[in-house]
Amino acid sequence: MSRRILVTSALPYANGSIHLGHLVEYLQTDIWVRFQKSRGHEVYYVCADDAHGTAIMLKAEQMGISPEQLIQEVSQEHQQDFAGFQIEFDQYHSTHSDENRYFASLIYERNRDGGHIATRPVRQFFDPERQLFLADRFIKGQCPKCGAPDQYGDSCENCGATYTPTELKTPYSTISGATPVMRESLHYFFKLPDFRDMLEAWTRSGHLQTEVANKLGEWFQAGLAEWDISRDAPYFGFEIPQAPGKYFYVWLDAPIGYMASFKALCARTPGLAFDDFWATDSKTELYHFIGKDIVYFHALFWPAMLHGANFRLPNGVFAHGFLTVNGTKMSKSRGTFIKARTYLEYLDPQYLRYYFAAKLVSGVEDLDLNLDDFVARVNADLVGKVVNIASRCAGFIQRHFDHRLVPVHHPLLTSCMDAGDSIAEHYEHRDFARALREIMSLADRINQYIDEQKPWALAKASPEDPQIAEICSLGLEAFRQLMTYLAPVLPGMSRQVQEFLNVKDLHWATRLQPLGAHTIRTFQPLLQRVEAEHVQAMIKASMEDLITPERTLPEPATTPAIEPIQPLIDLDSFLKVDLRVARILEAQLVEGADRLLRLLLDTGAGEKRQVFAGIRTAYDTPAQLIGRLTVMVANLAPRKMKFGVSEGMVLAAGPGGSDIYLLAPDTGAEPGMRIR
Ligand code: MSP
Ligand code: ZN
Repeated sequence: MSRRILVTSALPYANGSIHLGHLVEYLQTDIWVRFQKSRGHEVYYVCADDAHGTAIMLKAEQMGISPEQLIQEVSQEHQQDFAGFQIEFDQYHSTHSDENRYFASLIYERNRDGGHIATRPVRQFFDPERQLFLADRFIKGQCPKCGAPDQYGDSCENCGATYTPTELKTPYSTISGATPVMRESLHYFFKLPDFRDMLEAWTRSGHLQTEVANKLGEWFQAGLAEWDISRDAPYFGFEIPQAPGKYFYVWLDAPIGYMASFKALCARTPGLAFDDFWATDSKTELYHFIGKDIVYFHALFWPAMLHGANFRLPNGVFAHGFLTVNGTKMSKSRGTFIKARTYLEYLDPQYLRYYFAAKLVSGVEDLDLNLDDFVARVNADLVGKVVNIASRCAGFIQRHFDHRLVPVHHPLLTSCMDAGDSIAEHYEHRDFARALREIMSLADRINQYIDEQKPWALAKASPEDPQIAEICSLGLEAFRQLMTYLAPVLPGMSRQVQEFLNVKDLHWATRLQPLGAHTIRTFQPLLQRVEAEHVQAMIKASMEDLITPERTLPEPATTPAIEPIQPLIDLDSFLKVDLRVARILEAQLVEGADRLLRLLLDTGAGEKRQVFAGIRTAYDTPAQLIGRLTVMVANLAPRKMKFGVSEGMVLAAGPGGSDIYLLAPDTGAEPGMRIR
């Protein structure tokens, strides 16, 4: 019976590039969708960019473009990356769309009219300079326990204390540097506790993985809280109906983006009815693939919002684990924070599709991309086992049998066909690792059969021996079975194989009809081996332009000579600071700021930067600085100050007051030189 299925992947934020971590999810979903399509089901796979929120607003501002322009550009980039990895959405949309505005308002209004929205004032830190409320992650200050500076508003990295942002000593806004003030504002809340019974029942009735359902059990125990769904202007998002100046929090309209994307698909697909997939009485299936970090949103808020607005609930929310590379978190300095784009410049996407599939299981455990194992595994399995079958058999059929296969009956072929049922089970339950193990063990048996039959030996004696045609026909019939099973993982290669085998599809059911007396086309190489050098080159390209640390470092002294006044940072953090020599072109007093000078710096790259430096007490006649060299932090995010934008920072030393000295006197250094 044909099923009708709507599938989603989480919507990537529109403020960054797709990396290999994201791809775990999009590849997992794409493989599952392709598998379902191969089985003859009616499947729609939709996604979108998650385009709203403060981070995107600030990033656009920093880049000097509108948020609309930013999300437009990022959407293009994301879609190119996905296409590069052969991830095929039926619809790729944006949460900043008319459809999403419509459904966000509708879902909100239905919940509001059902009594599930509350309002109350909230006191929160406010940045008086930038005139916006500050989420906790935009506030830093001194730890109330140990006094360590520059700690985030929730916990101290130095002593481990946890607290609220209001407890920080000398708090500051990480956006402007200003001291935040407390301000009160009216917020809108979604009354999650109203849905407690419904949610408890739903989360326990097989829609979630066991470990996820257990985690939710703990959350129910702890008690559900109302969810703050409003943010004050300025905010990039949708204004809440009948609440001027209040915007939907990004996470409110993000999952609604699934609906919006599907609605856009319906609009251009004759006969596809939105209600068939979203009405409460719908007979279709709905599945969300997500990372384990966003379970709360998808297994609690989302079903509750849907229920409160009289829409159907998902049949399944499938969480996956996080990607590590070579056993640890992806790291920019190690070159293991690999962007999709960078990967594609060096390697075939199918290698990663295969490798991830070989590691993906139905649970939420993390998975590791071990780069040595990656090379070994892809070469051994895909090139050494699968492609090998075709390349060994094709030549004989082409040369001596006029490209014609002969009908074969053999238990080996029967077991390849029979295996389709259990392989399908594994795909269905997202146990891709097990599906691929089973496929590879079939490949082993086929190779073993060819090894035993030795068609090359027979060909030496008599190249047209009909037995050769039989052996090689069996090999290619079995190869077609394997490629049917692998097609969801390797769409590119499966297209080439269709061409080579001269068949019109590689659908699951078609495999039960053997090729028999059938003419194939000429074999073309299907997949190159992975070259370890290419992997190395990719790692190198992923490394930021960093300074290579000295090979031999002096032994560290047992007691540090300098008492650190900031918490210790690791080398990675230090290497992130881009220090450059710059020449001071202009230096002026700043009206109304008795500690600041406005400097114009020549950075050596044909670019000029304005920096406000607090060194006026030492250089009261700024003209004396013109022409001097200084060291600047070139990658400090620009900061809007009362007097203008500061695009970096200059380094100076001294106890303070009039004793502050700019570094790097004129000694042959040139603007643009990096400090190592
Ligand atoms: N925008 C939200 C999702 C909204 S869904 C209505 C978001 N975006 S994200 O870009 O941060 O992540 C998108 C998906 O990629 C999430 O499911 C997330 O779990 C997944 N991953 C991001 N980094 C990952 C790894 N390093 N490893 C595995 N999955 C990861 O969250
Ligand atoms: Zn502390």
